[in-house]
Amino acid sequence: MPANTIAVTLESRKNVADLRKTGIHPEHWYPLARSRDIKSGKAIGKSFAGESIVLVRTASGKIFALEDRCAQRQVPLHAGVVNGEQIQCCYHGWVYDSNGSCVNIPYAGKNERIPHSVRSYPCKEAYGLIFVFPGDRNKAEDAFFPHIPAKEDRH
Ligand code: FES
Repeated sequence: MPANTIAVTLESRKNVADLRKTGIHPEHWYPLARSRDIKSGKAIGKSFAGESIVLVRTASGKIFALEDRCAQRQVPLHAGVVNGEQIQCCYHGWVYDSNGSCVNIPYAGKNERIPHSVRSYPCKEAYGLIFVFPGDRNKAEDAFFPHIPAKEDRH
């Protein structure tokens, strides 16, 4: 390789941003896991752009994503147990639904208010992957999502 080509190449590399140091644009869909890695009734924790996210596959096979920290003591929810369509924290047993709402505190009285919730993320499964939208959830529906035609529709 000629010296001037090497110089030009090195010069252009100075302008390439280190992706590890740049922020991501939150208003896109990002694949965080392979579908086959989350069996029914299981949850896994993922770290994405500085956020801890738990991906949950319910007993019926649906997927949802929440911030991976219990509203009570910040314990990672992925260490909890998936019961039916909800996930239960492993520490004191608070139960969250797919919207991130705490729907049960086992030791709370019947009329006790349950004000706590955790953030939920728009989440969808396609092409054998699980995608999460970390930005403003109101923009998720209109955000670009890759369309890969089925094999029989490809030319
Ligand atoms: S830390 Fe989750 S229920 Fe207490």
